[in-house]
Amino acid sequence: MEAAHITVAITGASGAVFGRELLRALEEDERVSRVHFVASENSLRVMAEELEFSGRTNLLEKLLGAAPTKTVLLSDDDIGAPIASGSHPSSGMIILPCSMGTLAAIANGLANSLIARAADVTLKERRPLLLCVRETPFNRIHLRNMTLAVETGAIIFPVIPAFYNRPIDSTEMACQFVYRVLAHFGLPQPGAYVWKAEE
Ligand SMILES: Cc1cc2nc3c(=O)[nH]c(=O)nc-3n(C[C@H](O)[C@H](O)[C@H](O)COP(=O)(O)O)c2cc1C
Repeated sequence: MEAAHITVAITGASGAVFGRELLRALEEDERVSRVHFVASENSLRVMAEELEFSGRTNLLEKLLGAAPTKTVLLSDDDIGAPIASGSHPSSGMIILPCSMGTLAAIANGLANSLIARAADVTLKERRPLLLCVRETPFNRIHLRNMTLAVETGAIIFPVIPAFYNRPIDSTEMACQFVYRVLAHFGLPQPGAYVWKAEE
């Protein structure tokens, strides 16, 4: 695989720890040369609740726990960012967690923010788009939008973590979920739990 350029978005669904662990795994992965990262305005509200961060100041450093080496933070308002164009090389996009609002925008082609536009571009260029949706329960609009997105080429990869690996805390649960996401994206991770049923 060529050095990957991956777009990551965190939106305002619950599960910011999953997005944080995704960014950390990609920073560590030598097969990845660039991560373009966009946080929706509403994700900041959820991060404040769940990760106890406030505001955008040093957001990347706070998420990564260190200075970024390959991750670039883009503004969700910047519709002129490189990832807004299909001419920009990209290996695909992961939205983790993906809110029902962002799912709706993508499924209906609104392209009204950098996240929605980059997802739209990912679909039109036939690149992988993983929407790690999170809501419970789903209403019929959510289900319809998921179907619409899948029909256009997106992969619905819901934030439904595994329990058979007996995670000791939410970070381990998020890490193992992220490893599944990355394996699906063609970037299998060495620390991934592999189920071995007793013979
Ligand atoms: C603490 C908190 C948790 C939320 N959890 C969810 C969720 O799990 N799924 C969801 O679709 N929206 C959730 N929301 C609502 C979204 O943040 C809201 O719909 C927002 O408009 C999404 O905007 P965005 O997609 O631009 O980030 C939550 C909001 C808050 C404050």
